[in-house]
Amino acid sequence: MAEEFKEGLEDVIAAKTQLSFIDGKRGILEYRGYNINDLAKYSDFEEVTYLLWYGRLPNKKELQDFSKKLRSERKIDAGVIKILKICPKNIDAMDALRTSISYLAQCDKDLNNNSQEANIRKGIRITAKFPTIVAAFHRTKNGKKVIPPNPKLSHGANFLYMLHGKIPNEIEAKAMEADFLLTAEHELNASTFTARITVSTLSDLHSAVCSGIGALKGPLHGGARAEVYKMLDNVKSPDRAETYIKGLIDKGQKIMGFGHRVYKYYDPRALIFREIARQLAQNAKDSRWYDISLKIEETVVKELVEKKGKPIYPNVDFYTGAVYKYLKIPPELSTAIFAIGRIAGWVAHCLEQYSDNRLIRPLALYAGPHDQEYIPIEKR
Ligand code: COA
Repeated sequence: MAEEFKEGLEDVIAAKTQLSFIDGKRGILEYRGYNINDLAKYSDFEEVTYLLWYGRLPNKKELQDFSKKLRSERKIDAGVIKILKICPKNIDAMDALRTSISYLAQCDKDLNNNSQEANIRKGIRITAKFPTIVAAFHRTKNGKKVIPPNPKLSHGANFLYMLHGKIPNEIEAKAMEADFLLTAEHELNASTFTARITVSTLSDLHSAVCSGIGALKGPLHGGARAEVYKMLDNVKSPDRAETYIKGLIDKGQKIMGFGHRVYKYYDPRALIFREIARQLAQNAKDSRWYDISLKIEETVVKELVEKKGKPIYPNVDFYTGAVYKYLKIPPELSTAIFAIGRIAGWVAHCLEQYSDNRLIRPLALYAGPHDQEYIPIEKR
């Protein structure tokens, strides 16, 4: 058994899926066979969510109906707002999200109904409410009035509206929409695997979502975005980027937003985010954050890829730093925003797991002592 052990389950295949395909060497990502570049160009979050959950692109009527259902479920009740108000002010938006979903679970009439239809109903409710919870938490925390959702706006535009109290322009709205779409699904990443494990015990969807939120929160997963944002603040200007990055490399520190367990070349989502950051910089008539990011990328590729031969390229999180600067999204919300997109993938994977379930229960390689003598507590 020992030779089969893979630290961090690296390269271990732990599930069969029809949801996404990754070619980490060539930097290719597909959702249900559709290339991520095409989806980012032509689709939106609602359509991609439909694609993931139902296995095919919707026709016009199906998309209209799905979109209507999602938009009608955006509101959160007074109970959630009350909870958000009593949460300590210093908690992370991810903690607020997890607490709110736990509360909503108790109010959901379908809570313990694990049929496909009930899971889609619950998936719609949770997916629709995620942005509202995050925006409401942020506003209450900062002593501002909660802004109710606007059903006329897209998923992305509505989130920015609830956050800032102002309808975003087309470029900003498209950037937010693309962010949700690009993070919607990514095979067996840590949080999705966690969610699948939870439903493999035939537990409920809300529990799986809470598990996913917990796993996504860590700095090696969704938490990297906030670190990238802080790095941009520390670098301050493009001419300081090279020295700053070389300093981190000399100290043996990891550069946040770079490297990936699966991609050993450019993460295709990073390239799409780079273009979004460029457009936002142009829209804001301020290229500072975009230029700093470009310079960081150039230095990391030169120092780690070209000189040291390590495949450390920008991942999905790197250019979100600049994107969030331009969208005026504070760093403490960046992981929760990742969750707003990833919920589509979590639900899709849970549906897939329920439809052909076998309990996920791997083995551990025991690395402790044997035959220990039990010594009574008074004698220890
Ligand atoms: N900066 C510098 N070096 C990095 C690096 C980074 N961001 N990511 C990996 N490396 C190096 C490691 O130091 C290690 O070098 P070594 O073999 O000389 O010791 C090697 O690459 C392998 O790294 P490891 O951490 O074992 O890879 P992993 O597959 O376990 O981890 C990540 C993948 C994503 C956790 C890792 O790349 C990382 O921590 N990146 C920064 C955090 C981040 O952006 N996370 C978001 C992921 S989408």
